[in-house]
Amino acid sequence: MTALSELDETPTPQDAAWWRQAVVYQVYPRSFADSNGDGIGDLPGITGKVPYLRELGVDAVWLSPFYPSALADGGYDVDDYRDVDPRIGTLEQFDELRTALHRAGIRLIVDIVPNHTSNRHVWFREALASPPGSRARERYIFRRGRGEHGELPPSDWTSTFGGPAWEPVGDGEWYLHLFAPEQPDLNWADDEVHQEFLTTLKFWADRGVDGFRIDVAHALAKDLTEPLASQADLKADIWGGAHPLEDRDEVHDIYREWRQLFNQYDPPRTAVAEAWVPAHRRSRYASPDGLGQAFNFDLLEATWDATTFAAIIDKNLELARESGASSTWVLSNHDVVRHATRYALPEGTDLDAWLTSDGTDPLPDEDRGRRRARAATLLTLALPGSAYLYQGEELGLPEVADLPDDVLQDPTFLRSGGVQKGRDGCRVPLPWTTHGPTLGFGDQLAHLPVPTDFGRFAVEREEADDASTLSFYRQALAERRRLQSGETLDWLTPTHPTVVAFRRPGGWTSVTNFGSSPVPMPAGSLIMSSAPAEGREIPAETTVWILQDPEHAV
Ligand code: GLC
Repeated sequence: MTALSELDETPTPQDAAWWRQAVVYQVYPRSFADSNGDGIGDLPGITGKVPYLRELGVDAVWLSPFYPSALADGGYDVDDYRDVDPRIGTLEQFDELRTALHRAGIRLIVDIVPNHTSNRHVWFREALASPPGSRARERYIFRRGRGEHGELPPSDWTSTFGGPAWEPVGDGEWYLHLFAPEQPDLNWADDEVHQEFLTTLKFWADRGVDGFRIDVAHALAKDLTEPLASQADLKADIWGGAHPLEDRDEVHDIYREWRQLFNQYDPPRTAVAEAWVPAHRRSRYASPDGLGQAFNFDLLEATWDATTFAAIIDKNLELARESGASSTWVLSNHDVVRHATRYALPEGTDLDAWLTSDGTDPLPDEDRGRRRARAATLLTLALPGSAYLYQGEELGLPEVADLPDDVLQDPTFLRSGGVQKGRDGCRVPLPWTTHGPTLGFGDQLAHLPVPTDFGRFAVEREEADDASTLSFYRQALAERRRLQSGETLDWLTPTHPTVVAFRRPGGWTSVTNFGSSPVPMPAGSLIMSSAPAEGREIPAETTVWILQDPEHAV
């Protein structure tokens, strides 16, 4: 293999459409690799693992926030959008990481958090030090409280992490935070807020970043005309631009403004919206004059079922055609229970309740979970569009459900009074080696404890095992790179109700058996299988890729 230092920094610059069918790997920086032994993963740690990412075969890396932050919400509480948290690195180390990735032919996407700053951001400090009605307060959403002295919140809204969505500041005014109190919402009706984010996007685009992941993209525009709606009204099904806080049509004016900036670069910078909106509203975010792509979380929320998967795939391909974007496929990320575990639990399990039981009620069937996870991954990797992978899924990592309460960091845990454990169980540091106190993540410390049995999933072990999940991901990504061409898909009529089958250009055919008994393998030569396949049968809960004579039926 060519040494990385010998390669040019720019990955295939001619390809402005690189993102359409890219495999994007999400790095949660604090939990990836810790180079200086302080217990927190860092940028040099990621740079040291670029050969690993290259070997894995991903097209791009999306970095979750690495900006200065008190970590009230895992870094999604940003103090300064144009700097690096000193615990994670420096701007120079960011440049080194970008260079190393680009030399390896891997693009770089950074996370932008425009709905809220942290409460330590210079603007918010200024707002708190300024009186009601001041210019500094206009950048956020301050309102006088109800009651004679403003002692009651302006409305009964609750925040996503639990508890009230308004926080008093002691002078009769309250500020809005849809998430933690440390995350005051910005006022996107204010022009300075627009200018500030354009400056930030330009800062990173000029620094050679290839694209952006936009946090809570659906909530920036708000209608706060008095009287404010009640929480009960908000809960009602008022999608379609009528909700005062979410998915308002005006939000797209912001993204049109951003798109003009992105298109000034060659290749144009890309963006993907994290927008938790109904499927039919998603294409607005993905439109070419807006962000260009939007996460599709439908599979991440779907149960293991052939009909459900097929319907979701069909719907999302249609939406992608409508918007002119390509679809995205996501099975895991830093906000949800890992898919190897979701599929290990009986259908209908309440995941919050399961986490509260420390993962004991019900007990997951780990083998089944991993088997289904591999099958689902191979299926999504065969689809047109881009696949977003979350660090550790390539090792088959399960959710860590038994983290002790005293190490939990997610604001969900605190704000729900301990009723909900939150998202730390999918944010546990990666195991790189089979031994050592943090299994090669760092030195003695890890900001969340790495379970000793994670040695089973260590990169060191899986690299040496042809049957490991890591070897499987490497093979799947290499085959996908070789086979992926046009963006079309032809459904094949399955002979069995538990089967989802489709053909891609060139006769590349993906067949998934969701059922618990084997089904006949269609004709053609086997490219790969998510579980050992013998003879002419597709085993239970398995996906196979087959090269077929295009004229051949399943
Ligand atoms: C997004 C992030 C999540 C964060 C929230 C608030 O949903 O993915 O981790 O807590 O936004 O910024």
